[in-house]
Amino acid sequence: MTKDNISGSGVNEIKSKISALDIVSKYVSLTKSGERYRGLCPFHQEKTPSFYLDDGNGLYYCFGCQAGGDIIKFLMDIEGWTFIETMRYLSKETGVPFGVDNTRERSEKERLYSVNQRVADYYMATLRGRNGKQAMSYLNNRGFSKEIINTFAVGYALPNWEGLCSFAKSNQINSADLQKLGLIAKSNNPQTNQSFYDKFRNRIIFPIRDVLGSVVGFGARTIGSDEPKYLNSPETMLYHKGSSLYGIYEARNAIKNQDCVILLEGYLDVLALCQAGFNNSIASLGTAFTKEQANIIKRYTSNVIICYDGDSAGVEAVIKAIGVMKNFDFSLKIALIPNGLDPDDYLMKFGKESFKELLDKAMDSMDFIIHQLSLRYDLENRDDKFKFATNLVKMLAKVENRIEQEGYLRSYAEQYKLDKNALEFELNKVLNLNSRDEISINRVESNDLGLRDIIAAQEKKLLKILIDSKKTVSDDIFAIPEHKKICKIMNSHSWESLSDIMDSVKKHKLDSTLASIMINESFEENEVKLFRQLSILSKERRLRTIRRKISETVRVGEDPTDLLQEFRELERERAQLYGNKDFSS
Ligand code: UTP
Ligand code: MN
Repeated sequence: MTKDNISGSGVNEIKSKISALDIVSKYVSLTKSGERYRGLCPFHQEKTPSFYLDDGNGLYYCFGCQAGGDIIKFLMDIEGWTFIETMRYLSKETGVPFGVDNTRERSEKERLYSVNQRVADYYMATLRGRNGKQAMSYLNNRGFSKEIINTFAVGYALPNWEGLCSFAKSNQINSADLQKLGLIAKSNNPQTNQSFYDKFRNRIIFPIRDVLGSVVGFGARTIGSDEPKYLNSPETMLYHKGSSLYGIYEARNAIKNQDCVILLEGYLDVLALCQAGFNNSIASLGTAFTKEQANIIKRYTSNVIICYDGDSAGVEAVIKAIGVMKNFDFSLKIALIPNGLDPDDYLMKFGKESFKELLDKAMDSMDFIIHQLSLRYDLENRDDKFKFATNLVKMLAKVENRIEQEGYLRSYAEQYKLDKNALEFELNKVLNLNSRDEISINRVESNDLGLRDIIAAQEKKLLKILIDSKKTVSDDIFAIPEHKKICKIMNSHSWESLSDIMDSVKKHKLDSTLASIMINESFEENEVKLFRQLSILSKERRLRTIRRKISETVRVGEDPTDLLQEFRELERERAQLYGNKDFSS
């Protein structure tokens, strides 16, 4: 479902009913400052307020951390909800129904959520009741407190075949719904008059909740000797294994506040860590880590410590997870649990302090990969060492940031006793093969920050003027990709107001940029002046790029004639623009 086919089905009405000021005030204490409201930004730590709310336009922007957008974005970011989740919440708040195209499916889902919740309550009550004594002492013997059991709403399923079935019968819960949720199954035995039986029997029950706290599925650990050790809900309308994270609802605030998440494998690892005070823990539930899970984590933090078992399966799983997370710009650390233990065992055996040390010593993900690579070779053997170095260089070549790359190279040369210059030489060979041009351009871009800032500031002013005066221009004038994109969107969509543009730029995650543009202080420049300034700046930028290309070309012994010609041409054009009166004022 996309935002397009649901807009108009309640979205606009909901938007018109909500008050930006009311909503934001729940999270930020605001004071009036001119036309706008001002407060301490809830998205980053700060002592002087740089967070602004424009109540009329329903926009917020923080000059400190560049968080910004409309109120829906605000809720999505601060609560970590998706668009749909946010609309579900606002629909409840405003009483305006939020209809998606398929209302039958929607109401079915709502019904199943409530069945799941009642089932979770039933399992919880069972654990705490007379028949739950054995299960409760199992948990207590393993060191789990009442409090942690309550926090995670842990429950128990009776050993008999019809505990849940008879609970359902006496509480008017539809068997068909329980079957859809994978909680009961049809009986094959025609002799019995029971037509359904419980799927989870004699098991500790772990409700799995989504970020809104709704129960989507269950995990169930046997307390007997039944196989398998864990049974989990099958894929249902509510539960998708690959996009659920155990503990995310309980941990979400801690993850956000500590700006770090500990990623584990098992249910009981999450409970054990949380009980020991590491309450920013979640688990990927025995499946290979997925993109969808990475996306959920990314809503709360960019810092992940993967804490898996140290056995070969664990290492394999870590390497796969690193691969998935690579594309999400996480800062990743790896803490493997030694001695064949899992995090829960380790905590019980060695205590919190020791566990904390493990986390503090967590390895950078690149170090981890290289370390694992080195284990495959006998570094005393010359052939092996050569193969290792060759693979190492290939890995280094993938590191995009040159400063980081240089740091790794230096440290691995030392750690594995390899010749630094030789590694560097080989690395440059690989890099040049890959894409000489691309790399040098990237380097220029990152070195030209000062110029980039000036260009960005002037482009923002121009965009604000255009939006305020409802004009459009060709996107050629914009150099900053986000601004160019906004201009393109303005040119290709019909729009009457800022809110129309906001809706269109959202899909491209440019709402914060747009908010930063619109919330800009007033300025003197007019359109004409900005146009000329930007043309000059663009020549300036191009000149710097070419200057660098020329030195690079000379360095590798190639002919720079064409580049020199282009350089002189640009200089001439720039002089002409300067000739057209005052640039600096
Ligand atoms: P583990 O076998 O490491 O179990 O599986 P655990 O979590 O440490 O549990 P205890 O300490 O033995 O009681 C790790 C995770 O893999 C999934 C579960 O999510 C489990 O928590 N798993 C494991 C299954 O889904 N099914 C299984 O049969 C086993
Ligand atoms: Mn365990």
